[in-house]
Amino acid sequence: MRVFLAGGAGYIGSICAEQLLARGDEVVVFDNLSEGHRAAVDPNATFVRGDLNDLASITGALNQFAPDAVLHLAANACVGESMADPGKYFNNNVSGGLNLLRAMVENRVKRIVFSSTCATFGTPERIPIDEQTPQNPINPYGESKLIFEKILHWFNRIHHLTFVTLRYFNVAGASEKYGEDHKSETHLIPRILQVALGKAEHAEIFGTDFETPDGTCVRDYIHVRDIAYAHLLALSAEKSDSFNLGTGHGTSIREVLDACRKVSGHPIPAVEKPRRDGDPARLIASSEKAKRQLNWKPEIEDIHKIVETSWRWRIHHPNGYTG
Ligand SMILES: NC(=O)c1ccc[n+]([C@@H]2O[C@H](COP(=O)([O-])OP(=O)(O)OC[C@H]3O[C@@H](n4cnc5c(N)ncnc54)[C@H](O)[C@@H]3O)[C@@H](O)[C@H]2O)c1
Repeated sequence: MRVFLAGGAGYIGSICAEQLLARGDEVVVFDNLSEGHRAAVDPNATFVRGDLNDLASITGALNQFAPDAVLHLAANACVGESMADPGKYFNNNVSGGLNLLRAMVENRVKRIVFSSTCATFGTPERIPIDEQTPQNPINPYGESKLIFEKILHWFNRIHHLTFVTLRYFNVAGASEKYGEDHKSETHLIPRILQVALGKAEHAEIFGTDFETPDGTCVRDYIHVRDIAYAHLLALSAEKSDSFNLGTGHGTSIREVLDACRKVSGHPIPAVEKPRRDGDPARLIASSEKAKRQLNWKPEIEDIHKIVETSWRWRIHHPNGYTG
């Protein structure tokens, strides 16, 4: 297959590209490098620097490479920033994505796998969160992803575009070659590991009075290699559909912190702070549908093993992709 990765120079995209190339697919990465890194693009992939907000650039790239399918990972993805600057999120995640769909229709590319998120569910009434759970986002980031999910349904109905929406929970870990290096890092594990590397003084725990066993938020951490593999499976799905991807297990912030201390051998001091607005106590996926229909199953479920892969990558890339 020839696969076009919009946002393929980012964290998850780089590992999707690695796995696609390993199974013999041809890979084109299209990325504006606003968050991603040129060094995160596998040398065996073709790289096009371009922006989804530029319709001519995306139409030209699809025309040149004529891919069989698109993986759409390009987006802004920080919840806090979306609360401060919603326009940026609706512009990039909705309008930019729409340009991609229009360019696909024009170039008769008929298949897309879309990176969506558990943030489309907001604060769910029940756990685990399956595909029947109502989607009520509580921030512009989640809303922008939900709008795009709905747009996909219309493109399917009107333009016969086949889509698979993958709603990831908390993606973590690294492959041997590629890891997590966001310009402004908001994700828990890389932030904690910065302390172990001597690049930050302490970790932060936001809220210790949640209704959870140790009072801190519980999330479903899913390994990035398992997430990437779900894309490979989704590329051959027979019909349009949506899947929630997590392990089905919850891990609290204190448990993640302990795992990081154990794996790095560093005491990692932590400071307790008040809750942040809009942080639900528990977000845990049900991925039974993905297991049944895509034949997908997470391989790395233990939080220590997940952290070990992040730590190993960080040890080899103490400055991330720069330097
Ligand atoms: N990391 C997670 O835990 C997580 C969880 C749920 C969903 N997601 C979704 O998965 C996707 C990938 O996440 P990630 O963590 O790899 O993020 P990332 O920021 O590392 O990757 C996104 C890539 O898209 C590129 N990009 C952004 N806007 C673009 C544009 N207009 N034109 C071209 N390229 C553009 C960036 O430069 C970056 O390389 C995102 O859509 C995100 O919303 C991530």
